[in-house]
Amino acid sequence: MHICVYGVILIIILFVSLLIFVYKLRRNRKIEVNGKSVFITGCDRGFGYHIAKQLSTLGFQVFAGCLDINGVGAKELANFSKSVHPVQIDVTKEQDVSDALKFVEDTIQDKGLWAVINNAGVASYVECEWCPLDVYQRMIDVNLTGVIRVTKAFLPLVRKTQGRVVTVASLAGRNGLPGFSAYTATKFGIIGFSECLRREMKKFNVKVITIEPSMYKTNITNENVIIAQNKELWEKCPDEIKNAYGEHYFNDFLVKIKENILDLTANKDIAQVIDAIEDAICCQYPDTKYVPGFRTSFESFIYSLLPVSIQDLTVSLVMKYVSKPCQMTTLNKNK
Ligand SMILES: NC(=O)c1ccc[n+]([C@@H]2O[C@H](COP(=O)([O-])OP(=O)(O)OC[C@H]3O[C@@H](n4cnc5c(N)ncnc54)[C@H](OP(=O)(O)O)[C@@H]3O)[C@@H](O)[C@H]2O)c1
Repeated sequence: MHICVYGVILIIILFVSLLIFVYKLRRNRKIEVNGKSVFITGCDRGFGYHIAKQLSTLGFQVFAGCLDINGVGAKELANFSKSVHPVQIDVTKEQDVSDALKFVEDTIQDKGLWAVINNAGVASYVECEWCPLDVYQRMIDVNLTGVIRVTKAFLPLVRKTQGRVVTVASLAGRNGLPGFSAYTATKFGIIGFSECLRREMKKFNVKVITIEPSMYKTNITNENVIIAQNKELWEKCPDEIKNAYGEHYFNDFLVKIKENILDLTANKDIAQVIDAIEDAICCQYPDTKYVPGFRTSFESFIYSLLPVSIQDLTVSLVMKYVSKPCQMTTLNKNK
Protein backbone atom coordinates (compact mmCIF):
# COMPACT_ATOMS: atom_id res chain seq x y z
CA MET A 1 0.00 0.00 0.00
CA HIS A 2 2.74 2.44 1.10
CA ILE A 3 4.87 1.59 -1.91
CA CYS A 4 1.88 2.31 -4.14
CA VAL A 5 1.35 5.79 -2.57
CA TYR A 6 5.07 6.65 -2.85
CA GLY A 7 4.99 5.47 -6.46
CA VAL A 8 2.09 7.79 -7.31
CA ILE A 9 3.81 10.74 -5.57
CA LEU A 10 7.02 10.01 -7.48
CA ILE A 11 5.16 9.88 -10.81
CA ILE A 12 3.44 13.22 -10.03
CA ILE A 13 6.79 14.84 -9.11
CA LEU A 14 8.41 13.51 -12.30
CA PHE A 15 5.47 14.69 -14.41
CA VAL A 16 5.51 18.21 -12.89
CA SER A 17 9.32 18.40 -13.31
CA LEU A 18 8.93 17.39 -16.95
CA LEU A 19 6.28 20.07 -17.48
CA ILE A 20 8.54 22.72 -15.90
CA PHE A 21 11.49 21.52 -18.02
CA VAL A 22 9.46 21.71 -21.27
CA TYR A 23 8.05 25.13 -20.25
CA LYS A 24 11.58 26.50 -19.60
CA LEU A 25 12.86 25.02 -22.85
CA ARG A 26 10.08 26.72 -24.80
CA ARG A 27 10.58 30.02 -22.91
CA ASN A 28 14.28 30.07 -23.83
CA ARG A 29 13.57 29.85 -27.55
CA LYS A 30 13.81 33.33 -29.06
CA ILE A 31 12.64 34.67 -32.41
CA GLU A 32 15.16 35.89 -34.95
CA VAL A 33 15.15 39.70 -34.78
CA ASN A 34 16.57 40.33 -38.28
CA GLY A 35 15.64 44.03 -38.28
CA LYS A 36 11.98 43.35 -37.40
CA SER A 37 9.96 46.50 -36.65
CA VAL A 38 7.90 47.44 -33.61
CA PHE A 39 5.66 50.41 -32.88
CA ILE A 40 5.35 51.64 -29.26
CA THR A 41 3.11 54.35 -27.82
CA GLY A 42 4.00 56.64 -24.89
CA CYS A 43 7.80 56.71 -25.32
CA ASP A 44 8.39 60.24 -23.98
CA ARG A 45 9.37 58.71 -20.61
CA GLY A 46 8.72 55.81 -18.24
CA PHE A 47 8.37 52.22 -19.47
CA GLY A 48 7.91 53.25 -23.13
CA TYR A 49 11.17 55.22 -23.25
CA HIS A 50 13.17 52.32 -21.81
CA ILE A 51 11.56 49.58 -23.90
CA ALA A 52 12.25 51.65 -27.06
CA LYS A 53 15.97 51.72 -26.16
CA GLN A 54 16.10 48.05 -25.10
CA LEU A 55 14.43 46.74 -28.27
CA SER A 56 16.63 48.95 -30.45
CA THR A 57 19.71 47.52 -28.71
CA LEU A 58 18.45 44.02 -29.54
CA GLY A 59 18.35 44.94 -33.23
CA PHE A 60 14.71 45.95 -33.76
CA GLN A 61 13.72 48.93 -35.88
CA VAL A 62 11.72 50.93 -33.32
CA PHE A 63 8.96 53.40 -34.10
CA ALA A 64 8.77 55.26 -30.80
CA GLY A 65 5.41 57.03 -30.49
CA CYS A 66 5.82 60.26 -28.49
CA LEU A 67 3.12 62.61 -27.23
CA ASP A 68 5.52 65.49 -27.82
CA ILE A 69 7.84 64.96 -30.76
CA ASN A 70 9.79 68.11 -29.75
CA GLY A 71 10.16 67.01 -26.14
CA VAL A 72 13.30 65.83 -24.32
CA GLY A 73 12.35 62.11 -24.50
CA ALA A 74 11.81 62.14 -28.27
CA LYS A 75 15.10 63.99 -28.85
CA GLU A 76 17.07 61.60 -26.64
CA LEU A 77 15.57 58.62 -28.44
CA ALA A 78 16.42 60.10 -31.86
CA ASN A 79 20.04 60.51 -30.72
CA PHE A 80 20.17 57.04 -29.16
CA SER A 81 20.32 55.07 -32.38
CA LYS A 82 19.54 55.29 -36.09
CA SER A 83 17.15 52.39 -35.61
CA VAL A 84 14.85 54.47 -33.36
CA HIS A 85 12.36 56.71 -35.18
CA PRO A 86 10.38 59.02 -32.87
CA VAL A 87 6.83 59.48 -34.22
CA GLN A 88 4.30 62.08 -33.05
CA ILE A 89 1.20 60.40 -31.64
CA ASP A 90 -1.56 61.37 -29.25
CA VAL A 91 -3.58 58.16 -29.04
CA THR A 92 -6.80 60.14 -28.53
CA LYS A 93 -6.41 61.80 -31.96
CA GLU A 94 -7.56 59.94 -35.06
CA GLN A 95 -5.40 62.10 -37.34
CA ASP A 96 -2.23 61.46 -35.27
CA VAL A 97 -2.84 57.72 -35.42
CA SER A 98 -3.37 57.64 -39.18
CA ASP A 99 -0.32 59.91 -39.76
CA ALA A 100 1.81 57.61 -37.57
CA LEU A 101 0.52 54.56 -39.45
CA LYS A 102 1.36 56.17 -42.79
CA PHE A 103 4.88 57.02 -41.61
CA VAL A 104 5.44 53.41 -40.48
CA GLU A 105 3.99 51.98 -43.73
CA ASP A 106 6.15 54.29 -45.87
CA THR A 107 9.26 53.30 -43.93
CA ILE A 108 8.81 49.53 -43.75
CA GLN A 109 7.25 49.25 -47.23
CA ASP A 110 5.55 45.85 -47.55
CA LYS A 111 7.50 44.13 -44.75
CA GLY A 112 4.82 44.26 -42.08
CA LEU A 113 5.21 45.09 -38.40
CA TRP A 114 6.30 42.51 -35.82
CA ALA A 115 4.54 44.17 -32.89
CA VAL A 116 2.43 47.04 -31.71
CA ILE A 117 3.03 47.87 -28.03
CA ASN A 118 0.19 49.82 -26.41
CA ASN A 119 2.01 51.50 -23.56
CA ALA A 120 0.71 55.11 -23.39
CA GLY A 121 -1.43 55.67 -20.33
CA VAL A 122 -2.58 58.12 -17.69
CA ALA A 123 -3.66 57.47 -14.10
CA SER A 124 -5.30 59.10 -11.12
CA TYR A 125 -5.66 58.11 -7.48
CA VAL A 126 -8.86 59.86 -6.45
CA GLU A 127 -11.93 58.57 -4.63
CA CYS A 128 -15.01 58.27 -6.84
CA GLU A 129 -17.08 60.91 -5.03
CA TRP A 130 -14.60 63.73 -5.62
CA CYS A 131 -13.52 62.52 -9.06
CA PRO A 132 -15.48 64.46 -11.73
CA LEU A 133 -16.76 62.77 -14.87
CA ASP A 134 -14.24 64.55 -17.12
CA VAL A 135 -11.38 62.77 -15.29
CA TYR A 136 -13.09 59.42 -15.97
CA GLN A 137 -13.64 60.47 -19.60
CA ARG A 138 -9.97 61.45 -20.13
CA MET A 139 -8.81 58.15 -18.66
CA ILE A 140 -11.18 56.21 -20.93
CA ASP A 141 -10.06 58.23 -23.98
CA VAL A 142 -6.36 57.50 -23.44
CA ASN A 143 -6.24 54.11 -21.71
CA LEU A 144 -9.15 52.35 -23.36
CA THR A 145 -10.34 54.00 -26.60
CA GLY A 146 -6.72 54.97 -27.37
CA VAL A 147 -5.58 51.35 -27.12
CA ILE A 148 -8.47 50.13 -29.29
CA ARG A 149 -7.85 52.91 -31.88
CA VAL A 150 -4.11 52.16 -32.18
CA THR A 151 -4.62 48.38 -32.21
CA LYS A 152 -7.25 48.53 -34.97
CA ALA A 153 -5.08 50.84 -37.08
CA PHE A 154 -1.91 48.70 -36.84
CA LEU A 155 -3.46 45.19 -36.87
CA PRO A 156 -3.30 44.76 -40.67
CA LEU A 157 0.48 45.32 -40.51
CA VAL A 158 0.83 42.89 -37.59
CA ARG A 159 -1.29 40.23 -39.33
CA LYS A 160 1.21 40.31 -42.22
CA THR A 161 4.01 39.07 -39.96
CA GLN A 162 1.85 36.87 -37.70
CA GLY A 163 3.25 39.07 -34.98
CA ARG A 164 2.17 40.43 -31.58
CA VAL A 165 -0.16 42.94 -29.96
CA VAL A 166 1.27 43.72 -26.53
CA THR A 167 -0.72 45.94 -24.19
CA VAL A 168 0.53 47.37 -20.91
CA ALA A 169 -2.50 46.96 -18.65
CA SER A 170 -2.03 46.76 -14.87
CA LEU A 171 -2.72 44.63 -11.82
CA ALA A 172 -5.39 47.30 -11.28
CA GLY A 173 -7.10 45.61 -14.22
CA ARG A 174 -7.64 42.53 -12.05
CA ASN A 175 -8.25 43.98 -8.59
CA GLY A 176 -10.17 47.10 -7.70
CA LEU A 177 -8.67 49.11 -4.85
CA PRO A 178 -10.20 52.19 -3.20
CA GLY A 179 -9.11 55.36 -5.02
CA PHE A 180 -8.49 53.66 -8.37
CA SER A 181 -12.00 53.47 -9.84
CA ALA A 182 -11.29 55.54 -12.99
CA TYR A 183 -7.94 53.87 -13.73
CA THR A 184 -9.18 50.39 -12.84
CA ALA A 185 -12.27 50.73 -15.04
CA THR A 186 -10.04 51.38 -18.06
CA LYS A 187 -7.53 48.63 -17.23
CA PHE A 188 -10.30 46.04 -16.72
CA GLY A 189 -11.55 47.29 -20.10
CA ILE A 190 -8.31 46.70 -21.99
CA ILE A 191 -7.76 43.31 -20.37
CA GLY A 192 -11.26 42.33 -21.55
CA PHE A 193 -10.59 43.79 -25.00
CA SER A 194 -7.28 41.91 -25.26
CA GLU A 195 -8.87 38.63 -24.15
CA CYS A 196 -11.50 38.80 -26.93
CA LEU A 197 -8.94 39.94 -29.50
CA ARG A 198 -6.57 37.11 -28.50
CA ARG A 199 -9.23 34.55 -29.28
CA GLU A 200 -10.20 36.30 -32.53
CA MET A 201 -6.59 36.61 -33.72
CA LYS A 202 -5.70 32.96 -33.12
CA LYS A 203 -6.82 32.12 -36.65
CA PHE A 204 -4.19 34.58 -37.99
CA ASN A 205 -1.48 33.29 -35.66
CA VAL A 206 -1.21 36.74 -34.06
CA LYS A 207 -0.46 36.63 -30.33
CA VAL A 208 -2.25 39.12 -28.07
CA ILE A 209 -0.49 39.62 -24.74
CA THR A 210 -1.09 41.76 -21.65
CA ILE A 211 1.55 43.06 -19.23
CA GLU A 212 0.02 43.59 -15.80
CA PRO A 213 2.51 45.39 -13.51
CA SER A 214 1.87 46.38 -9.90
CA MET A 215 3.10 49.85 -8.84
CA TYR A 216 6.45 51.08 -10.13
CA LYS A 217 8.11 54.44 -9.65
CA THR A 218 7.48 56.43 -12.83
CA ASN A 219 5.76 59.73 -13.51
CA ILE A 220 2.37 58.02 -13.26
CA THR A 221 3.00 57.27 -9.56
CA ASN A 222 4.56 60.67 -8.80
CA GLU A 223 3.03 61.54 -5.42
CA ASN A 224 3.35 65.32 -5.93
CA VAL A 225 1.28 65.13 -9.13
CA ILE A 226 -1.31 62.88 -7.44
CA ILE A 227 -1.58 65.07 -4.33
CA ALA A 228 -1.86 68.28 -6.40
CA GLN A 229 -4.65 66.73 -8.49
CA ASN A 230 -6.53 65.59 -5.37
CA LYS A 231 -6.31 69.06 -3.79
CA GLU A 232 -7.60 70.70 -6.95
CA LEU A 233 -10.53 68.27 -7.31
CA TRP A 234 -11.41 68.43 -3.60
CA GLU A 235 -11.59 72.25 -3.80
CA LYS A 236 -14.09 72.03 -6.67
CA CYS A 237 -16.12 69.28 -5.02
CA PRO A 238 -19.72 70.04 -3.87
CA ASP A 239 -20.14 70.96 -0.17
CA GLU A 240 -22.41 67.97 0.46
CA ILE A 241 -19.55 65.60 -0.40
CA LYS A 242 -16.92 67.61 1.49
CA ASN A 243 -19.11 67.58 4.59
CA ALA A 244 -19.86 63.87 4.31
CA TYR A 245 -16.17 62.93 4.20
CA GLY A 246 -14.73 65.85 6.16
CA GLU A 247 -11.35 67.61 5.87
CA HIS A 248 -9.83 65.17 8.34
CA TYR A 249 -10.63 62.18 6.13
CA PHE A 250 -9.29 63.99 3.05
CA ASN A 251 -6.04 64.99 4.77
CA ASP A 252 -5.54 61.43 6.03
CA PHE A 253 -6.15 60.21 2.47
CA LEU A 254 -3.29 62.45 1.24
CA VAL A 255 -0.96 61.18 3.99
CA LYS A 256 -1.91 57.63 3.08
CA ILE A 257 -1.04 58.27 -0.59
CA LYS A 258 2.33 59.72 0.27
CA GLU A 259 3.64 57.73 3.19
CA ASN A 260 1.94 54.41 2.99
CA ILE A 261 0.89 53.60 -0.54
CA LEU A 262 3.36 55.13 -3.03
CA ASP A 263 6.45 55.06 -0.76
CA LEU A 264 5.79 51.55 0.53
CA THR A 265 4.53 49.77 -2.54
CA ALA A 266 5.95 51.51 -5.64
CA ASN A 267 8.86 49.42 -6.90
CA LYS A 268 11.99 51.20 -8.18
CA ASP A 269 13.13 48.25 -10.31
CA ILE A 270 11.31 49.08 -13.54
CA ALA A 271 13.64 46.67 -15.39
CA GLN A 272 11.22 43.92 -14.28
CA VAL A 273 8.53 45.48 -16.50
CA ILE A 274 10.87 46.23 -19.40
CA ASP A 275 12.16 42.63 -19.35
CA ALA A 276 8.59 41.27 -19.33
CA ILE A 277 7.78 43.36 -22.42
CA GLU A 278 10.99 42.18 -24.10
CA ASP A 279 9.97 38.59 -23.33
CA ALA A 280 6.53 39.14 -24.84
CA ILE A 281 8.15 40.45 -28.03
CA CYS A 282 11.13 38.09 -28.33
CA CYS A 283 10.05 34.67 -27.00
CA GLN A 284 8.89 32.20 -29.60
CA TYR A 285 6.30 30.97 -27.11
CA PRO A 286 5.51 33.97 -24.90
CA ASP A 287 3.13 33.90 -21.93
CA THR A 288 -0.35 35.30 -22.49
CA LYS A 289 -0.17 37.50 -19.40
CA TYR A 290 2.85 38.82 -17.55
CA VAL A 291 2.80 39.99 -13.94
CA PRO A 292 6.35 41.38 -13.53
CA GLY A 293 8.17 40.41 -10.33
CA PHE A 294 8.02 36.87 -8.91
CA ARG A 295 6.57 37.89 -5.52
CA THR A 296 3.79 40.00 -7.03
CA SER A 297 3.03 37.29 -9.53
CA PHE A 298 2.73 34.67 -6.75
CA GLU A 299 0.66 36.91 -4.43
CA SER A 300 -1.65 37.88 -7.25
CA PHE A 301 -2.18 34.21 -8.15
CA ILE A 302 -3.06 33.28 -4.55
CA TYR A 303 -5.32 36.35 -4.20
CA SER A 304 -7.20 35.44 -7.40
CA LEU A 305 -8.07 32.03 -5.89
CA LEU A 306 -9.78 33.57 -2.84
CA PRO A 307 -13.57 34.02 -2.65
CA VAL A 308 -14.64 37.66 -3.24
CA SER A 309 -15.71 38.13 0.40
CA ILE A 310 -12.19 37.16 1.55
CA GLN A 311 -10.65 39.43 -1.10
CA ASP A 312 -12.78 42.33 0.26
CA LEU A 313 -11.70 41.52 3.81
CA THR A 314 -8.03 41.40 2.75
CA VAL A 315 -8.28 44.82 1.09
CA SER A 316 -9.99 46.36 4.17
CA LEU A 317 -7.35 44.88 6.48
CA VAL A 318 -4.52 46.14 4.27
CA MET A 319 -6.09 49.62 4.08
CA LYS A 320 -6.59 49.58 7.84
CA TYR A 321 -3.27 48.22 9.05
CA VAL A 322 -0.78 49.00 6.28
CA SER A 323 -2.22 52.49 5.81
CA LYS A 324 -3.00 55.06 8.44
CA PRO A 325 -6.71 54.90 9.28
CA CYS A 326 -8.96 57.41 7.54
CA GLN A 327 -11.95 58.54 9.58
CA MET A 328 -15.12 60.05 8.24
CA THR A 329 -16.54 62.99 10.17
CA THR A 330 -20.11 61.87 9.54
CA LEU A 331 -19.37 58.44 10.97
CA ASN A 332 -17.74 60.05 14.01
CA LYS A 333 -20.76 62.31 14.46
CA ASN A 334 -23.09 59.33 14.25
CA LYS A 335 -21.23 57.47 17.00
N1 LIG B 1 4.12 52.87 -13.21
C1 LIG B 1 3.25 52.02 -12.74
O1 LIG B 1 3.18 51.79 -11.54
C2 LIG B 1 2.34 51.27 -13.68
C3 LIG B 1 1.72 50.12 -13.18
C4 LIG B 1 0.87 49.40 -14.02
C5 LIG B 1 0.67 49.82 -15.31
N2 LIG B 1 1.28 50.95 -15.77
C6 LIG B 1 1.00 51.34 -17.15
O2 LIG B 1 2.23 51.44 -17.85
C7 LIG B 1 2.07 52.35 -18.94
C8 LIG B 1 3.24 53.31 -18.95
O3 LIG B 1 3.18 54.09 -17.77
P1 LIG B 1 4.47 54.64 -17.02
O4 LIG B 1 4.44 54.10 -15.66
O5 LIG B 1 5.68 54.49 -17.86
O6 LIG B 1 4.04 56.19 -16.89
P2 LIG B 1 4.65 57.51 -17.54
O7 LIG B 1 6.07 57.64 -17.20
O8 LIG B 1 3.73 58.62 -17.17
O9 LIG B 1 4.53 57.23 -19.10
C9 LIG B 1 3.31 57.31 -19.79
C10 LIG B 1 3.59 57.76 -21.21
O10 LIG B 1 2.35 57.89 -21.92
C11 LIG B 1 2.33 59.17 -22.54
N3 LIG B 1 0.97 59.62 -22.79
C12 LIG B 1 0.07 60.17 -21.92
N4 LIG B 1 -1.07 60.49 -22.56
C13 LIG B 1 -0.89 60.13 -23.86
C14 LIG B 1 -1.69 60.24 -25.03
N5 LIG B 1 -2.91 60.79 -25.02
N6 LIG B 1 -1.20 59.76 -26.21
C15 LIG B 1 0.04 59.22 -26.26
N7 LIG B 1 0.86 59.14 -25.21
C16 LIG B 1 0.39 59.59 -24.02
C17 LIG B 1 3.09 60.06 -21.57
O11 LIG B 1 3.48 61.28 -22.18
P3 LIG B 1 3.76 62.56 -21.19
O12 LIG B 1 4.79 62.11 -20.21
O13 LIG B 1 4.21 63.62 -22.10
O14 LIG B 1 2.45 62.84 -20.53
C18 LIG B 1 4.25 59.14 -21.24
O15 LIG B 1 5.19 59.17 -22.24
C19 LIG B 1 0.71 53.01 -18.75
O16 LIG B 1 -0.23 52.41 -19.59
C20 LIG B 1 0.38 52.71 -17.30
O17 LIG B 1 -1.01 52.67 -17.06
C21 LIG B 1 2.12 51.68 -14.98
